[in-house]
Amino acid sequence: MQTINMAQLNKTQIIQAAQILTDSLPLGWPTLDDAMNEINELLVPQNTLLAVVENDTVLGWGGILSKYDGHVFEIHPLAVRSDRRKQGLGKAIVAALEDEARKQGGLTMLACADDEKGNGGTSFANVDLYEDLPEKIKYFSPGTHQSGFYLKLGYKIIGVMPDANGPGKPDIYLGKRLWLR
Ligand SMILES: CC(C)(COP(=O)(O)OP(=O)(O)OC[C@H]1O[C@@H](n2cnc3c(N)ncnc32)[C@H](O)[C@@H]1OP(=O)(O)O)[C@@H](O)C(=O)NCCC(=O)NCCS
Repeated sequence: MQTINMAQLNKTQIIQAAQILTDSLPLGWPTLDDAMNEINELLVPQNTLLAVVENDTVLGWGGILSKYDGHVFEIHPLAVRSDRRKQGLGKAIVAALEDEARKQGGLTMLACADDEKGNGGTSFANVDLYEDLPEKIKYFSPGTHQSGFYLKLGYKIIGVMPDANGPGKPDIYLGKRLWLR
């Protein structure tokens, strides 16, 4: 298994990456075409996209986008093939993206995790996030939502955007410091 810069992937592998994206995050990228367009837009020198590849097959991938003059890098997107989840691949991709962000001078890694499902996935869904947000962060419960993955990796909730995906459906900002104090 190798971690490869996606600029080096061939056409077949890019299609595999796009298939993983639309299968994993259909609300964001409903079709294979949408996912292909996203990858083509992201695959520019100022972004870094890394894929985990086994026997020439893409199993998962993620990217970082530079924000705030390069002090912050946002993970966008991140997806692992459904039959290969819970085997450490997501963690390995995020670690490789963090190394890359550090190399590029990043101080903070940001992951934005939409809580956008109908009934919501986390304890932030369908509650008033303007009311005592610190208390709600303290007792945050991710359920099976992907924010649980980032919390496992040491990320902390650093903010929310209430109603980002419709009433009661927030975006959750998770951050990690990339430098030692
Ligand atoms: C989120 C995702 C990338 C995680 O990838 P993965 O390869 O399954 O994750 P890993 O196996 O590396 O998991 C690392 C740790 O997080 C845990 N974990 C994984 N998904 C989790 C979840 N949804 N909730 C809580 N913990 C989770 C694992 O159990 C593991 O814990 P451990 O170190 O104690 O064993 C994958 O589930 C995915 O592609 N989901 C759909 C797309 C998505 O939600 N992307 C993120 C958008 S913000």
